[in-house]
Amino acid sequence: MNIVAIESVVWQKTPAVFPSLAANAIHVWRTPLNLSADKIHIAQSVLSPDEIERAVKFKFLMHQQKFIVARGTLRYLLGQYLAQSPESIVFQYTDKGKPYIADQSIFFSVSHSNDWATYSIGLVEKLGIDVEKIRHDLTIASIAARFFSADESQHLQTLPTAQKTQLFFHLWTCKEAFVKATGHGLTESLSREVHQEDCLITPFYLADNYIAALISPTQIDHIQFWNYG
Ligand SMILES: CC(C)(COP(=O)(O)OP(=O)(O)OC[C@H]1O[C@@H](n2cnc3c(N)ncnc32)[C@H](O)[C@@H]1OP(=O)(O)O)[C@@H](O)C(=O)NCCC(=O)NCCS
Repeated sequence: MNIVAIESVVWQKTPAVFPSLAANAIHVWRTPLNLSADKIHIAQSVLSPDEIERAVKFKFLMHQQKFIVARGTLRYLLGQYLAQSPESIVFQYTDKGKPYIADQSIFFSVSHSNDWATYSIGLVEKLGIDVEKIRHDLTIASIAARFFSADESQHLQTLPTAQKTQLFFHLWTCKEAFVKATGHGLTESLSREVHQEDCLITPFYLADNYIAALISPTQIDHIQFWNYG
């Protein structure tokens, strides 16, 4: 089992001039998803017809709006890096559902949980990010027994409740971020332990009660954290 200390990071203000990306760097962005009607409308105006179609399929308006803001923000961010308008970006999808931009050298990963979305953007492939709001109503033992390795699951049982909850969400976000970095999605076994030798693991707190993990290739040595919106 590989447990890496969870960092409390400094989130820089949205920059007046957009930061440029170096080959060894990853930019992590976070944005709140509970926005005003005006901002939701602006985000919606840059979505493609298939994204609007996807948004309206959400049963609850709140989920529609969060998807719209998260996807609109992704378009704004990528548009800045690519010097393109947000609406002109064309996403393609792997057969497992991982979005990407064809013929570009920029790579990204997206995650959202409740009131926050987060994005990792870089010039290297195999990026994965995941955020989860910490919940206290889960039966950790049975979820861990089903999805985690035997070693991880047994270790969790030895911990007091608060530590157990924290480690559970740490391992969960690392696994989900790893699955996203590989792009395999649901078919990838989550029982696989994620090890520092295979990739760079950067766990961090996205906000109070939100644990996140970034998985990136080992050559990355510069990670910056920015607020958007
Ligand atoms: C792909 C997967 C990792 C997404 O994770 P999630 O926690 O459901 O949702 P997140 O908000 O973190 O991520 C969603 C984003 O991942 C991206 N994504 C979707 N499929 C992807 C894939 N195959 N690979 C990489 N990224 C993918 C999309 O950008 C998506 O954003 P969108 O919904 O706005 O289009 C998820 O579908 C999966 O396979 N999870 C495993 C489920 C499981 O068994 N969990 C047990 C916990 S231990």
